[in-house]
Amino acid sequence: MIENQDKIALPVGVTLDRFIKRNEDAFPFATGELSQLLRDVALAAKIVNREVNRAGLAGVTGLFGAENGHGESQQKLDVIAHIRFLRALRNGGEAAAVVSEEEDEVLVTGNEGAKYVVAIDPLDGSSNIDVNVSIGTIFSIYRRISPIGTPPAMEDFLQGGNRQVAAGYVLYGTSTMLVYTTGRGVYGFTYDASLGEFFLSHKQITTPGTGSIYSCNEGNLNDFPDTVRSYVEACRSRRYSARYIGSLVGDFHRNLLKGGIYLYPPTARAPNGKLRLLYECYPLAFLVEQAGGMATDGTMRIMDLPIRLLHQRAPLYIGSREMVLEVSPALSDAEHSGGPMLQKAELPVSTAIS
Ligand code: AHG
Ligand code: MN
Ligand code: MN
Repeated sequence: MIENQDKIALPVGVTLDRFIKRNEDAFPFATGELSQLLRDVALAAKIVNREVNRAGLAGVTGLFGAENGHGESQQKLDVIAHIRFLRALRNGGEAAAVVSEEEDEVLVTGNEGAKYVVAIDPLDGSSNIDVNVSIGTIFSIYRRISPIGTPPAMEDFLQGGNRQVAAGYVLYGTSTMLVYTTGRGVYGFTYDASLGEFFLSHKQITTPGTGSIYSCNEGNLNDFPDTVRSYVEACRSRRYSARYIGSLVGDFHRNLLKGGIYLYPPTARAPNGKLRLLYECYPLAFLVEQAGGMATDGTMRIMDLPIRLLHQRAPLYIGSREMVLEVSPALSDAEHSGGPMLQKAELPVSTAIS
C-alpha cells in the first residue's frame, strides 16, 4: 500500500516544507500545486494556532451570536478559523473552491485555474474553546472533476472518500500538531511557535491493531443501537478506559497513537449520527486506514459511503481494526467468511497525486 517509502525517508526534525518538497521530488506524478496547497493549509494552521492561544486575552471566546446552516450556535473562533482558512486557500491560489462546516454553500475562491477543492471543519470541538481543552481543524482535498478554467461545481465535492488526494488535521493541544496523508502513510509534525515551523515528529504513524480505550458520549447510551450498547457494555466489563473529551480530533489522535475506538452512533437527537461525512468522517477514515486502522458506519467502510449532500451526516466507528470490526458485525462476518471486506493491504488506495 505504501510504495516508495524509502524515497521520502527523512529524519525526525526535518521541516514540513522540506518534507513536502521531498515528497514532490520522489514521485513521478507529483505536482507542485498540491504541495503548495498543503503549505497554505499549514500557514492557516499557524494563524489559527495564534488565535487559539490568545483567545482568552483577545476576547474571542464565547458565542459569535449567529447559527450556522445546521442550526448550531457559532463560536467566535469557529468564524475566525473559517475566515483564516478561507483566506489562506484563496490567496494561495491552488484551491478553486472550499466547503466549510460554517457555510451552507460551496465557496468559490475565484481561482478557476486551480486543480483542487478543499473541504474543512475549520474548528472542531468548539464546545471546548472556552474551557481551554484541545480543539482541532480537519481538512480533505480532492482533485476537481469540473474542467479546469471553468467555475468549480458541487460535484467536485461529492466524489466520495476514495477520491481524496490528501487529508489531515491540526490539533491545537498540549502542543500543536499537523497530521496528514497523501495516500502514502501518515506523518505528524509538531509546531515550534518560537521558530514558526512545523517539524516532523511522528514518522509513518501506524495504529495498534487493538486497544483498551473506548470514546463515546456515554450519556447517549440508552439511545444507541442495541449492538453498539452491548459493545460499550462489553468494554466496561473488560475494564477498558473510557476517554471522551468531545473534540473529535483530540479523541481520534489519542486513539490513533494508543489504540482504541471512537464511536458516534445514531441517537434519538441525531438519527443519522452527528458527524459530517465530507469534512469529518472521510478525512479521518482516510488517515486511519493509512495507519492500518478502520472506519465504518456500522455497515460499510466510511470511504465507500456514497455522498449526496455537502453536509451529510454519518454514524462513525473509527480506530483500531479489531475493535471497529467487533462493533460492525456485518463487516466482521463478511470478513470471516471471505466476503467483501478486504485485508488492509488490498484496500483500494485513494488516488494520490502529490
Ligand atoms: P464541531 O465542534 O465541529 O461542531 O464538532 C463537534 C463534534 C466532535 O468534535 C465531537 O466529537 C462531537 O461533536 C461531540 O458531540 P457530543 O457533544 O454530542 O458528544
Ligand atoms: Mn467537528
Ligand atoms: Mn466545527
